[in-house]
Amino acid sequence: MNTEAVTVITIDGPSSSGKGTVARLLAGRLGWRYLDSGALYRTVAVAALAEGVSLDAEDRLADIAKALDIQFRDSDGDQHVFLEDRCIDAEIRAETTGDAASQVARHAAVREALLGRQRQFAESPGLVADGRDMGTVVFPHARHKFYLTASADERAMRRHKQLNEKGIGVSLPALAKDIAERDLRDSSRATAPLRPADDAVTIDSTELSAVEVVAQILSHLADAGIVAVGKKT
Ligand code: C5P
Repeated sequence: MNTEAVTVITIDGPSSSGKGTVARLLAGRLGWRYLDSGALYRTVAVAALAEGVSLDAEDRLADIAKALDIQFRDSDGDQHVFLEDRCIDAEIRAETTGDAASQVARHAAVREALLGRQRQFAESPGLVADGRDMGTVVFPHARHKFYLTASADERAMRRHKQLNEKGIGVSLPALAKDIAERDLRDSSRATAPLRPADDAVTIDSTELSAVEVVAQILSHLADAGIVAVGKKT
C-alpha cells in the first residue's frame, strides 16, 4: 500500500501527554485504523527481557524486532496486544516496560526494523498513528500532524491517577522523575528524537480533557474538509 495515497493523521508527543487516548478516540470516531507505535517498542522490550537480551545489544534487539510475532486484536472497544498468541496487555503497560522500551528505542537498527511494519498500518480509508516520530520519520507525508503536550506536573499526575486506578501504588515524585528521564532520553537520542514535525499543529492539553482535544483535532480536520462540519463535536 502506498502510504502517501492514504489519509494519515499523526499524533506525537511526550510520555503521558494523553496522545494514546486521543488517537484511539479519534480513530474510533472516524472509523479508521489505529497504530499504537509505542506498543511495538514495548513489545520488543518484553520479548528481549524474556530472552535475557541486554537492552544495549543493538543487533540482537533488531533481530527480535524483525522477527516479532505481534498482533493487535480489537475486542470490547479496546485494542489488545498479543506476542506469540499470548495477551501481554498488563506487561507492556508496566512502568518498567515503558522505561525498557525507551532504551530499546534508542537503537537505529531497531527503529529501522520496525519501520515497514508501521507503514503497513496505512490502509484506506485512513490511519491515526501515535508515537514520537510518526510525523517526522514514519509518515513524513501525513496530511495532518499534531503534537500533543501537557505540563510535566500534569502528565505525572495523570499517570499517577491511571496507576492508582489499576491498584498500582507509585509515589508521585518518583513517577515525575521517571517521566522526566524518559522524556530526556526520547528527545536527546540521535535517531528519530521526539520533536514536533515542522508542519505539526501543537496542542497543549494541560487544561483539556481527551474529549476536548479530539474536538480540537476534529475542528482542524473539518477546516481541511476531512470531516463534515456538522460532525465537529
Ligand atoms: O508511547 P509509549 O509510552 O507507549 O512509548 C514507549 C517508548 O517507546 C517511548 O518512551 C519511546 O522511547 C518509544 N517510542 C519511540 N517511538 C515511537 C513510539 C514509542 O521511540 N514512535
